[in-house]
Amino acid sequence: MTDTIATDRTRFLRHLRQVRSFDPAPVAPEVLDDILEVARWTGSSQNQQEWQLIVVTDPETLRLISEASPSAGHLARAPLAVVIVMPGERRITEAFDEGRITERTMLAATAHGLGCGMAWLEAGEAAVKELLRVPSEHKVRTAIAIGTPDAAGRRRKAAPGTARRPLSETVHYERWGARRT
Ligand SMILES: Cc1cc2nc3c(=O)[nH]c(=O)nc-3n(C[C@H](O)[C@H](O)[C@H](O)COP(=O)(O)O)c2cc1C
Repeated sequence: MTDTIATDRTRFLRHLRQVRSFDPAPVAPEVLDDILEVARWTGSSQNQQEWQLIVVTDPETLRLISEASPSAGHLARAPLAVVIVMPGERRITEAFDEGRITERTMLAATAHGLGCGMAWLEAGEAAVKELLRVPSEHKVRTAIAIGTPDAAGRRRKAAPGTARRPLSETVHYERWGARRT
C-alpha cells in the first residue's frame, strides 16, 4: 500500500507492538483516566460490560504478579498494569469481550504515545487472585503492562513489514481462495 492520507490516519495503530521493557516513570493520572475511559466504552456481548479492572502500580505487587506466570515477566518492568477480571460464567463471550477490552486499552495507551504489553496470567491465576483479593469464582486471565518504553522496549524486533503475514496471504475477495492479483 502506498503512503497516503488514509495510511497516515491509521499509522499509530500499526505501531502497536508488544512492549516488554519500560521506563520506571509513572503514567500521568489524567492519561490513565483517559485510557480507562476508552476501555469503559468497549463494546461487549449484549452490552453486558462484565469486566472489572484492577489498576496496579505498587512495584512489589507487580513483581509478585509477574513471578506467578512464566510469560508475565514484563509486568515487573512496568510502572503500571491493568488486570482484567471477568465473572467466569460465560466462557466464550467473556473471552471475546476480554480480548476486545484488552486491545482497546492497548490502543488507547498507544494513542497517548505509551507502550504496552499484555500477558496471560492463567498459569498463576490462583496466586494472582489471592494477591489482589479477587473472589475465587472470578476469572483472571489478562494483564496489560503500560508505560513509556525504555531503550530495550523501543528496539526494533523485526525488519519493517516482516512481523505479520501479508494481506495477500490473509484476505480473500468475494469467495474463499480468491486473492487480489
Ligand atoms: C491471547 C494472547 C496471549 C498473549 N500472552 C502473552 C504473554 O503471556 N506474554 C507476552 O509477553 N505476550 C503475550 N501476548 C502478546 C503476543 O506475544 C504478541 O502480540 C505477538 O507476539 C505479536 O507481537 P508484536 O505485537 O510485538 O508484533 C499474547 C497475545 C495474545 C493475543
